[in-house]
Amino acid sequence: KLPIIIDCDPGQDDALMLFLALNAPELDVRGVVACGGNVPLARTELNCRILVEMAGRTDVPVFAGCEGPMVEPLFTAEYVHGETGIDGIDFFEPTIEKQAQHGVDFIIETLRAAEDNEITLVPTGPLTNIAMALVKAPDIAAKIKQIVLMGGASFEGGNVTPSAEFNIYVDPHAADVVMRCGRPIVMFGLDVTHQVMTDDKVVADMRALDNRVAHASAGMLEFFGQYDAAKYSADGGPLHDPCTIAWLLEPEIFELKACHVAIETRSELTRGHTAVDFWGVTGNTPNAMWAYKADRTRFFALLTERLAQY
Ligand code: BDR
Ligand code: CA
Repeated sequence: KLPIIIDCDPGQDDALMLFLALNAPELDVRGVVACGGNVPLARTELNCRILVEMAGRTDVPVFAGCEGPMVEPLFTAEYVHGETGIDGIDFFEPTIEKQAQHGVDFIIETLRAAEDNEITLVPTGPLTNIAMALVKAPDIAAKIKQIVLMGGASFEGGNVTPSAEFNIYVDPHAADVVMRCGRPIVMFGLDVTHQVMTDDKVVADMRALDNRVAHASAGMLEFFGQYDAAKYSADGGPLHDPCTIAWLLEPEIFELKACHVAIETRSELTRGHTAVDFWGVTGNTPNAMWAYKADRTRFFALLTERLAQY
């Protein structure tokens, strides 16, 4: 089993990412760390516990990480995800408790206890916790097998500003630290996540599955789809974050290219822009695998098949 640590900010699409990861026999989820992002930390952390419990994985510890970015004030996205971050779900008070340890220290401790090249990090929110761990304990870098993240935009353009995608926009300094860490990075940005949009059929197929997790997923995606439907006349919403886990489970769904990716941290206009050197014009050695194509049919087949197993 592949040992992974998830770092996220649920978020309906983070929720689907968690559901995909938490019943995957291929993965050993060592812990879930929450960060401030789509909604403030107190809420993302609670959401993580609700989602982990709903997935029946009360054995997976949930941690709270950093409340906000390394430098900038926190910018949240209730305008997309609703006040709770996971609007569309039926809420309940989870029985599992938040771990006392800070999420960044959990990441450091887990990596220090691991072999070189052992742990896969899966961040699907702003990269604050991962960057803080790397800054606090640079020795952990060697333990990272790969960082499989959702963030960035190149050909597709941004979703917060014309230049920037949300996760990188919120904490560009953290993204800069991560991009320079020297470990393998696999990036799922808007170029590819906008190729896996939900529609009424996807939601109906989920609702037809006879279990609570699938029904909760359908409810959340119904809400989540409304934003893109209104803003971009889309049929539904983009399943950004589940691309990370989908790639770990079935890499053939995606096409990727080795690219150098640099983060804009200084400009007000283009803050959080991911300068993806897709054509190799800089001559810089690639520091990431950049996903640029997804097979939508296979993606949703995987998602539906895995949700059916709950
Ligand atoms: C990313 O930002 C959040 O709104 C989503 O959860 C996703 O991680 C997309 O830009
Ligand atoms: Ca997210």
